[in-house]
Amino acid sequence: MDKLVIRGGTRLKGEVTISGAKNAAVALLPATLLVDGISTITNVPNISDVKIICTILEKLGANITWHTPNTITVDTTHIHSTTAPLDMTSKFRASYYLIGSLLGRCKEAVVGLPGGCNLGARPIDQHIKGFEALGANVEVSQGKISASAKKLVGTSIYLDIVSVGATINIMLASVLAEGTTIIENPAKEPHIVDVANFLNTMGADIRGAGTDIIKINGVSKLKGNATYSVVPDQIEAGTFMLSAVATKGDLIIKNCIPEHLDCLTAKIIEMGANVEANGDAIHVWTSQRPNKTNLKTQPYPGFPTDLQPQMGVCLAIANGTSIINEGIWESRFQYTAELNKMGAQITNQGKSAIFEGVDTLYGAPVEATDLRAGAALIIAGIAAKGETSLTNLIHIDRGYENIEEKFRKIGANIQRVTEEF
Ligand code: EPZ
Repeated sequence: MDKLVIRGGTRLKGEVTISGAKNAAVALLPATLLVDGISTITNVPNISDVKIICTILEKLGANITWHTPNTITVDTTHIHSTTAPLDMTSKFRASYYLIGSLLGRCKEAVVGLPGGCNLGARPIDQHIKGFEALGANVEVSQGKISASAKKLVGTSIYLDIVSVGATINIMLASVLAEGTTIIENPAKEPHIVDVANFLNTMGADIRGAGTDIIKINGVSKLKGNATYSVVPDQIEAGTFMLSAVATKGDLIIKNCIPEHLDCLTAKIIEMGANVEANGDAIHVWTSQRPNKTNLKTQPYPGFPTDLQPQMGVCLAIANGTSIINEGIWESRFQYTAELNKMGAQITNQGKSAIFEGVDTLYGAPVEATDLRAGAALIIAGIAAKGETSLTNLIHIDRGYENIEEKFRKIGANIQRVTEEF
């Protein structure tokens, strides 16, 4: 089993280039099923979730060509199955996008219930509400979701809860439906806009992605031969911004979209660090301990839940007491027990956590409880005094491309070690 060994006490300095967004790529690849033709996607992050999705697409009959680790051509002309391998779909969350895509193109889909990070209950009732509103029959039984429709007809769908997955899935299922679909109360994350932009390059007619109302005018067919570049990963960029805050560093984060990080930028400035946006780069630097602050995670453009653990590391060593309220997931504080092993003083109270800032953290053996917790613990190990060993890297490799290499290039003393047992 691999582990990361981190020798702490480093102030991170230098430049880091951000990869394409995981949460966009895991939707764009299933979206290629909507066209019977060829799509080329560039700036794809080289992560395990992407590899799993490509394997599933091949099992459905797609032909995948990897031109580079970050450029993929998908030929979906000869799809011969609408049943995704049930043993694979449970390995990650985004497998549910296969339902929207297969239903949209083939009017049927059988997909295993999704997996993904353990953040508490992760229902898909809003996805099902959308599919049924479009005219599909949906059944969830024996660990799989079966959806079918004689035809799909556009309609108005109000999301009872702001959901990234349901918003994207309804877009996927409705681009080829008859008539117009309106999604009310949609999610507005950058990856929602990215999927809409990709579908529109293939001839879909989607307007308002990223706003409070998304309107999809159904078209009869999408056009192949589209080429599309995945949007830079807002969460990876934010992860590195917070690593500069936690280590009193000086980082230039390149190939990102600063306005996607306005909320985090405001919080980082509140904590006493400096942030400067320059085109497609963000400069973050500080020589002081972070000030305390409070925050509540919310749908975009609020503070992203996917940056909550990384922010937790900064608050664990901040000057004073801070509170985080997790507004999206039932249980996203598992990482605090690991930080407490490193000397943090964090108390969980349901969907809130109280951070009594300590002067410093101390290296310890810790484990990644989920993807973003893993990234947070890397930051903690770099900021801490002494040596940290981090296990359960499978979580991290799902969503971050070459993360230890990127941290090493900005000064971290971090090695991936394979343990013989
Ligand atoms: C996406 O998950 C991301 N994953 C998550 O990122 C991210 O935390 C989340 O959006 C919120 O931004 C991917 O894009 C693959 P939701 P998703 O549907 O789509 C409730 C990471 O670290 N809900 O927006 O599953 C749900 O329980 C991962 O990259 C329903 O109640 O999230 C949650 O409380 C972790 N019914 C809230 O809505 C539904 O049908 C938001 O969930 C759907 C969701």
